[in-house]
Amino acid sequence: MSKLTIFKHPLINHKLTIARDENTNMRDFRSLINEIGGLMAYEITRNLPEREVLVKTPICETIGTALAKDVVIVPILRAGIGMVDGIHKLIPQAKIGHIGMYRDEKTLEAIEYYAKFPKDMPESAVLLVDPMIATGGSVVMAIDALKKRGAKDIRLVGLVAAPEGINRIQELHPDVDIYLAALDEKLNEVGYIVPGLGDCGDRLFGTK
Ligand code: PRP
Ligand code: URA
Repeated sequence: MSKLTIFKHPLINHKLTIARDENTNMRDFRSLINEIGGLMAYEITRNLPEREVLVKTPICETIGTALAKDVVIVPILRAGIGMVDGIHKLIPQAKIGHIGMYRDEKTLEAIEYYAKFPKDMPESAVLLVDPMIATGGSVVMAIDALKKRGAKDIRLVGLVAAPEGINRIQELHPDVDIYLAALDEKLNEVGYIVPGLGDCGDRLFGTK
């Protein structure tokens, strides 16, 4: 069974509460989502492997460390894009792949419409990013696509999730650790997370 981490950090909670507020405007919403992404990335990368490197300071040579694995950030379009800048600020050398998914409004089934990844997926730590995990269908399909390209170390970065979605992901991809800012109550009858924060893509990009 994969590890599920729900961050209990006052700064993350504070920012998430403002993001949930329906009166928060698009600009503030986008910056909050990014800021939370950055705060989460610090913890999620805590166990990345390191290797020793020799460095010459202005004083002498010494041994330092560098990341032993490349990091690839993969947002699920569109809403995943909202967390990328915040994470990339912490790991500026990370490459970025993209996977496009949308949910059929009636069936709630995920449909993939775009995928582009760097070549070195099998050797990299992949941070799959989607702020909203509702039925889990989009994430399950995205993980399938990543594994097809050879990715082995996949960590899921979500913001808010419904228990239904998390159960489905853990059942189908028990090797993928999951990191969230909040695990909410349930899904409503049209597949939205309750209490959630509404339609994340629309709030990020002003499309409603
Ligand atoms: C939203 C959200 C997730 C997905 C979650 O995307 O960003 O990707 O729904 O739902 P699921 O867990 O039931 O699959 P949406 O389909 O609204 O597309 P958009 O981000 O392009 O608006
Ligand atoms: N996608 C969203 O943006 N919000 C939800 O509550 C569910 C899916």
